[in-house]
Amino acid sequence: MKRVLSGMQASGKLHLGNLVGALQNWVRLQQEYECFYFVADWHALTSGYQNPAVIKESTMDLLLNFLSAGLDPEKCTIFVQSMVPEHAELHLILSMITPLGWLERVPTYKEKREELQDRDLSTYGFLGYPVLQSADILIYRAGYVPVGQDQLPHLEITREICRRFNHLYGGVLPEPEGLLTEFPKLPGVDGRKMSKSYGNAIYLSDAPGDVTAKIKTMMTDPARKRRSDAGNPELCPVYQLHKIFSASDEKDWVVKGCISAGIGCLDCKGVLIKNVLRVLEPIWEKRKALIENPSYLKDVVNEGAKKAGAAARATMSAVKESLGWYQ
Ligand code: TRP
Ligand code: SF4
Repeated sequence: MKRVLSGMQASGKLHLGNLVGALQNWVRLQQEYECFYFVADWHALTSGYQNPAVIKESTMDLLLNFLSAGLDPEKCTIFVQSMVPEHAELHLILSMITPLGWLERVPTYKEKREELQDRDLSTYGFLGYPVLQSADILIYRAGYVPVGQDQLPHLEITREICRRFNHLYGGVLPEPEGLLTEFPKLPGVDGRKMSKSYGNAIYLSDAPGDVTAKIKTMMTDPARKRRSDAGNPELCPVYQLHKIFSASDEKDWVVKGCISAGIGCLDCKGVLIKNVLRVLEPIWEKRKALIENPSYLKDVVNEGAKKAGAAARATMSAVKESLGWYQ
């Protein structure tokens, strides 16, 4: 059975876009594959080294959401990257064979530096972000890596580093394939893509009242200034969310009511609120139970790190064999 490996960087709380774009897909994959899912706390350190408290908090938020959204520790391996130090050991070796030019050309390198101009990212570790990601993937000899479009360049460089390793040392590392998550980007409350950096996200950890308030004040089709103005749902971020969270008869109702001005935006948002809450309520319930039982979460992660560690050590042993080292 092919292995699946994926991670999320611990640099903020999870939002609705992460849930439908990634996490729900992870939950589906655990039924079919041997899956390893982890919180990438070292990756968060590459750009968040000045504030490790954020990483600690996000790591907890991610773990709570992994479990509350349906990852099942009986079916998949859940862990924290820094608890499996073999990632760092392989990262070190891969860093020796990765040409600087490859790293400087990765588009996310420039993009992220521009996005985070308030931080000093002229560091060795930040440039090496994709090398660390390659180590995460190759250390499990993963066949598939479910990721969003934005991560494809990192997967491409992983394959290049993998080939270079195999070429140089007659190695045995399999080239991983990306599993693109076919999901449209969710809009945030201001109509731009939902992102923590835009401050427009609905978080899984929001209280019910916050979710309701955020959707109520969400941007709509600007053509609908008054209740009597007709609108175009395709130009409205509220409708983009209906497409994901609402049933087809509700979507028909929105389209008809919007273009004929038969319904008001608040009616429309009311139905969306009901549907989003229906998805979030069971997640909140599980989250609450997990918070009340912190030793369970600890056990899950320790057990996960143990299983992941065993798989990672087996790969390290093969890697050392290729290099011809004592072990
Ligand atoms: N870079 C990914 C993100 O930003 C996180 C990540 C780290 C990852 N290592 C990985 C994803 C390995 C897939 C595979 O969310
Ligand atoms: Fe958007 Fe709904 Fe208002 Fe139409 S009725 S503009 S889809 S919120």
